[in-house]
Amino acid sequence: MEKIKIIMDVDTGSDDAIALVMAMLEEKFDCLGICAVNGNVEVKLTTDNSLRVVECCDKQGVVPVFKGCDLPIASTLMPWTAQSLRPFPTREGTREGKTVVHGDHLPLPEPTIKEEKDSAVVWLINTLLESDGDIILVPVGPLTNVAVAMRADPRIIPKIKRIVYMGGGDRVNNTSAASEFNVWADPEALEIVLQSGVDFTMVPLDATHEAYMNLADAAEIREIGTKPAKLVADLIESRIRGYSVNDKDSADNALAPIHDALAVCSIIHPECLVDVVDVICHCDISRGFAYGETIIDWRHRVKFDEPANIHFAKHADRNVFTAWVKEVLKKDKERRGL
Ligand code: RIB
Ligand code: CA
Repeated sequence: MEKIKIIMDVDTGSDDAIALVMAMLEEKFDCLGICAVNGNVEVKLTTDNSLRVVECCDKQGVVPVFKGCDLPIASTLMPWTAQSLRPFPTREGTREGKTVVHGDHLPLPEPTIKEEKDSAVVWLINTLLESDGDIILVPVGPLTNVAVAMRADPRIIPKIKRIVYMGGGDRVNNTSAASEFNVWADPEALEIVLQSGVDFTMVPLDATHEAYMNLADAAEIREIGTKPAKLVADLIESRIRGYSVNDKDSADNALAPIHDALAVCSIIHPECLVDVVDVICHCDISRGFAYGETIIDWRHRVKFDEPANIHFAKHADRNVFTAWVKEVLKKDKERRGL
């Protein structure tokens, strides 16, 4: 069976790490590489964390890691926004020591492998240009690498089979009242990609918060007993602790969304996304109160005066998602002969 070629673009972070485990262990995927970007933590750390996950999954020498952009395209050029980027009070926890949802380092040994020499943008451009147009990009952090690559060499745009993106929000936001973190960190990058015409699926907070995981899920996954399963269980539990600091629903019910992994799941199990609609979406880059808002045009017009540019997932099916995560980890255990 032909494998599905994907490239992960991540700001590893705790849910990115779970997404990477899934991307590398799901046997239907051929994960061609991992591009790290500035986001949850600085790009030196997102790169280091990605390398740690590659080794945790015993994919060193198989899945390369590339260091990408260390600053957003434009959002930090204004001195006052540069200051406000860190630390940011989000539902992704605060940066008050032990209660963060991400932290600087994942709970894994320091990596013994290094990132590749090419920058992520250079490798993305070369890989896409040399491809048959059969690669799915899976960005689950700020879209800086992807947008810079598109601007640097627009020939890659028709070579991208589709983009499956974790980011944005309509009814649900986390970093400001109007914006979701991945967009907020680099709004101009999202708008560049939204205007590119690439087939774009947005997996927003509206969906990811419905596909949460809880302590029972973590316990069941820990039972599997492999290194990747232990990492996933540890990260679910740490995310529940971090989310409970700021989010009442998480605190009351001991649960947390695993945003990025849902985007990966949707490539294998599209049914994990519910009520996916084709809409026009643009990103507010006007630097006002709604800077970084994903503005969905819900007007019920007979026809769009511009074509819909995204597939927007309004909801998610938590059962499909959690079952898939457990199945991938159990199959990995069998492959390891444990
Ligand atoms: O808003 C959620 C997104 O922001 C996720 O990708 C998480 O990793 C953080 O980057
Ligand atoms: Ca992320």
